[in-house]
Amino acid sequence: MKVIFHGHACFEIQSNEGRIIIDPFLRNNPQATSKPEDFKEIDAILVTHGHSDHLGDALELAKNTGAVIVANFELGSYLESFGVHVHQMHIGGKHSFPFGNIKLTPALHGSGIPVGDGTFFYGGLACGFLIGIEDKWLYHAGDTGLFGDMQLIGQHYDLELAMLPIGDNFVMGPEDATLATKMLHPKYIIPMHYNTFPVIEQDENNFLELLQKQVPETKGIILQAGEAYQI
Ligand code: NI
Ligand code: MN
Repeated sequence: MKVIFHGHACFEIQSNEGRIIIDPFLRNNPQATSKPEDFKEIDAILVTHGHSDHLGDALELAKNTGAVIVANFELGSYLESFGVHVHQMHIGGKHSFPFGNIKLTPALHGSGIPVGDGTFFYGGLACGFLIGIEDKWLYHAGDTGLFGDMQLIGQHYDLELAMLPIGDNFVMGPEDATLATKMLHPKYIIPMHYNTFPVIEQDENNFLELLQKQVPETKGIILQAGEAYQI
């Protein structure tokens, strides 16, 4: 399968089982090289939480493509009110879809949906996603701080790939992402959620060095927006 990075926390997964996009922040994403209208066929849109840099263009994509949005119950209810196809789930729950198995994991973060004037709709709890495709498990952590239950995920899932934030300030920084990698022990890690805005600037090579020193068995992969990695 092919994993394409679209900048920030947005990834696209193309497999024999379908095409998935996670956290489709495209139009206002300074890193993104694709626009929502570039996507003609998508099976599913996975949204980790209600913040605009993750919910992004999910509604537009769902309207254009008919793809199902997978999100937590509260965020899902909100999105469903716009007439798009939504599958609501919640943390700890797994569901088998034609495009793969999806399980919601905890994430230490908010999920308020900004509706203007500094007002938020309640968006439930932020989550991450375990995604089972072609007999491989991928983990998109969403926005999160480090938490010890990542150890459980690492123990119970033989992860091929982890997509972990390293931008610090709102989420894990490089040191905590390295600790997370130690607990998750995936074959590959792609760092995300950095360099999109000044407050989350990071030198990805420092992270790779840290990783090489502390978790040499995991291979760090740096993707620029628009680049793909075959796993
Ligand atoms: Ni967020
Ligand atoms: Mn974010």
